[in-house]
Amino acid sequence: MSPRRLLVGGNWKMHKVRDDARRFCEHLRTGLGATAVDVVLFPSATLLPVVAESLQDTPVTWGGQDIHPEDAGAHTGDISGPQLVDTGCAWVLCGHSERRRDHGESSDLVATKAAAALRNGLKPLVCVGETLEQRQQGHTEDILADQLRPLRELPAGSFDIAYEPIWAIGTGETATPSQAAAAHAFLRQQMIKTWGEPAEATLRILYGGSVKPENAADMILPQDIDGFLVGGASLDAAQFLAIISACGR
Ligand code: PGA
Repeated sequence: MSPRRLLVGGNWKMHKVRDDARRFCEHLRTGLGATAVDVVLFPSATLLPVVAESLQDTPVTWGGQDIHPEDAGAHTGDISGPQLVDTGCAWVLCGHSERRRDHGESSDLVATKAAAALRNGLKPLVCVGETLEQRQQGHTEDILADQLRPLRELPAGSFDIAYEPIWAIGTGETATPSQAAAAHAFLRQQMIKTWGEPAEATLRILYGGSVKPENAADMILPQDIDGFLVGGASLDAAQFLAIISACGR
């Protein structure tokens, strides 16, 4: 089990309208109780005000799914750090594989987004992970090292990481606890090389990829797994709560 404080994130992707979000937050608020696990939701930008209103006065935090590297300007369709802060965000996802895939985001761009987040007082949760083909060819560690490298300019301990093997996202196929543990141990070792002690003491590495109430208790056991980034199962408050409580055990 991880010696760091665990974090569970819910990535709603492009799901839900305001009524769904309100109902979810009400269920979460009443079901959560006292928990030693940090919880963050990543709704679509249109839902941030509803989530903010419904979850104020709770320990739950929220964040954007993306951020533009600049704080303002002519960038149609994008969202800036100050706009996220304006809806009470504490977090932002940077470099989710679906953004890397759909919008061609490079690891260099992801690092500039993480820097923009920090400049605005937001904590970046930076996503990394390999494709099935890359894993089968034995390139997992090279890919992870390449994705981490542009982050080296960021201050130690200023961000967290989500390891999300692309072949496990939304596929129902989860990495085994030992596959995930090996990738997390590699990431931790790389980060300790770059950032030293804070990477050991406080930097969290979440696992993401088909986490469900049924597999959460086993997946949380390896000591380098510091929580989860949950997609599909975070759309249902009961399932999300069950995953949080599996981490709290
Ligand atoms: P999933 O998504 O839990 O539906 O696999 C995880 C993610 O993309 O963050």
